[in-house]
Amino acid sequence: MKVLIIGGGGREHAIAWKVAQSPKVHKLYCAPGNAGIAEIAECVDIGVMEFDRQVDFAQKQEIDLVIVGPDDPLVAGAVDTFLKAGIRVFGPEKKAACLEGSKSFSKDLMKKYNIPTAEYETFDSAAEALTYLETAKMPVVLKADGLALGKGVLICNSLEEAKDGVRTLMLDKQFGSAGDRIVVEEFMVGREVSVLSFVDGKNIKIMTSAQDHKRAQDGDKGLNTGGMGTFSPSPFYTAEVDAFCKKYVYQATVDAMRSENREFKGIIFFGLMLTNEGPRVLEYNARFGDPETQVVLPRMKNDIVDVFEACIDGNLNEIDLQFEDNAAVCVVLASDGYPEHYEKGFPIKGLERFKGQTGYYAFHAGSRFDEEGIPVTNGGRVLGVTALGGNLKEARTNAYEAAEWVEFENKYMRHDIGKAIDEA
Ligand code: AMP
Ligand code: GLY
Repeated sequence: MKVLIIGGGGREHAIAWKVAQSPKVHKLYCAPGNAGIAEIAECVDIGVMEFDRQVDFAQKQEIDLVIVGPDDPLVAGAVDTFLKAGIRVFGPEKKAACLEGSKSFSKDLMKKYNIPTAEYETFDSAAEALTYLETAKMPVVLKADGLALGKGVLICNSLEEAKDGVRTLMLDKQFGSAGDRIVVEEFMVGREVSVLSFVDGKNIKIMTSAQDHKRAQDGDKGLNTGGMGTFSPSPFYTAEVDAFCKKYVYQATVDAMRSENREFKGIIFFGLMLTNEGPRVLEYNARFGDPETQVVLPRMKNDIVDVFEACIDGNLNEIDLQFEDNAAVCVVLASDGYPEHYEKGFPIKGLERFKGQTGYYAFHAGSRFDEEGIPVTNGGRVLGVTALGGNLKEARTNAYEAAEWVEFENKYMRHDIGKAIDEA
């Protein structure tokens, strides 16, 4: 098979690595890819939103399967474009990707189908939102309706902060049209867990749990980022939580989407909060999480191409999805200053240490080759260093050891990824 992956981050590197293990795949392309992906796939210089060029390339190369990684192309209808051209593609169509693309859509869906989530109100007018806030309980959470690089969520402790937030989202349009509509949500307290799943329209198979670390600095301080590290499984995802979500969340979401004539095929990422009243859905994503994928896929036993095909063909129920009884930790090596201002273009040294090692992976997030063919930093998040271990503590020790193998000038990482493991 010839496979094309759309995307160029750490998530796509992990997907590409897993796809490359499949004996069925004899040629792998990635658009646009990065310096790490280039080791296992042929990278083509086509952007993630250039659908016509992607389709053109897929037709010329006679691609058998396309996998769309990131949220932006999924929400904008990349899958629909491939389907129209008669190309086999893994991912949700636009009408289903709105599960992630519109917070008000997903909140209304959960309300209508009794899927547990925080109480909320939706506003299209700043004046009405401001009036509502006068009597709302603080803290309160404001969410831009559309995609905002994971930054469109504001947790406001006081009425003043909340009013400023409405201005930022709806009037100053910090996230553009994503803020034309906002969701104002009840603030919940609890531990967060991410759960990834494969969905074929009717059936859902849960992968394994993971936990992200969204803030830039140790102790969950600093600004929100795309994710500074992950571990899997989460020790807080107990059999009780699993049973609850199987009963009230997972299949219920898939069935709700079918009932709305928005059959979902692809990956559903459940962002859960484990509150005192039980698990609640914080958010849905319509794709693999980043950097959750970097700890989930190295633990997966199946040939992922078989699972992708089963999702497309609607026979996921025939797949016995299995994970190793081990653990993984991913430490993100970022450019100092991320997520705000940072420099890039620095040579990345030490990557050869990962070659031929089992259980250690350097998934590239922001890297490229310079004119001399040397890998250099090319983003805020540069690498996700993942290590396996027999248990979480061992995996964490291994990941931090491997994080020291790599050097670049402004290397920055959190030193407390997986600290919560000690509290379990
Ligand atoms: P979201 O993009 O909806 O997952 O929100 C991003 C982050 O904001 C989440 O991972 C939580 O840490 C936080 N958050 C979102 N909604 C709530 C809520 N209702 N209560 C408390 N924290 C929240
Ligand atoms: N790690 C969270 C996300 O992928 O949105």
